[in-house]
Amino acid sequence: MPRLAYVNGRIVPLAQASVSIEDRAYLFADGIYEVASIFGGALFDWPLHLERMARSLNELQIRAPMSDAALRIAAERLIRKSGVSTGMLYLQITRGAARRDHAFPDARTPPGLSMIARPFDFSRRVPEQQVGMTAITAADQRWSRRDIKSVALLPNVIAKQAGKEAGAYETIMIDPDGTVTEGSSTTVWVVDRDGTIVTRPLSHAVLPGLKRRRLIGLLEDAGETVAERSYDVAALKDAAEVFVTSTSSPVMPIVSIGGEAVGDGTPGPASLTACRLMWEEIERQTGWTPRAGSPGGD
Ligand SMILES: Cc1ncc(COP(=O)(O)O)c(C=O)c1O
Repeated sequence: MPRLAYVNGRIVPLAQASVSIEDRAYLFADGIYEVASIFGGALFDWPLHLERMARSLNELQIRAPMSDAALRIAAERLIRKSGVSTGMLYLQITRGAARRDHAFPDARTPPGLSMIARPFDFSRRVPEQQVGMTAITAADQRWSRRDIKSVALLPNVIAKQAGKEAGAYETIMIDPDGTVTEGSSTTVWVVDRDGTIVTRPLSHAVLPGLKRRRLIGLLEDAGETVAERSYDVAALKDAAEVFVTSTSSPVMPIVSIGGEAVGDGTPGPASLTACRLMWEEIERQTGWTPRAGSPGGD
């Protein structure tokens, strides 16, 4: 399948896609992004992505490059032309290209919009969910507006790399007061000894994860007890279960943190319920179900 990109109104071969070196995302990380999943050619929870995107743009006073309806058409056209059936859409909006100056450029400067659709076989998550993944913890080194999905991800990159070097799937970030914030690219959940499923309340300290939002509703509808409250690193390590959620890892049990087993070291019942509810929701919205024994490509 052709590797394509959408750049400022045109779909071009990825190798020929380019933006100005004066683009403010390149100079100042002055831009926002979204990552949405694609199942059977359909975007999952796209309206929620549009809502979060609009919020990020509004918080940073960046103009939307086009209407929601036009953006959907452009995104779906790229997905179709790229031949992606199951995968992810990356979308980035920047404050545009202008002579380098910290202050915002002239309000007429057009915002930059680029998108890439790439295949990802979500079926591979099923066997991973059955065994679970590992994590480490690290200091959260980010700024004080983590609720904005800004492309300024250097602290997340450094945290993820630390995890990778430790052989871990995710790095769970901790504020200086010992409070757990989130994973380097995931929302973190803990399950109390009494079975309550806990995740942090939304604030400027964490990204409003869309899998988080979706899963809270699914769990509550299924009769599970969910609490949105802060918890510290001791509670994380003492939890009966830990799991993370994100677009690329819809739900992933974490079975050890820093080399110490979580619970009995296997994915627990609440985590597996969360996995099942999310797959059911994906099927409900898109008709897609994971294939057993998938080769891992798409
Ligand atoms: C820091 C951070 N937290 C949480 C998430 C999960 O968000 P979502 O469920 O919308 O993918 C992400 C996803 O990229 C992230 O980067």
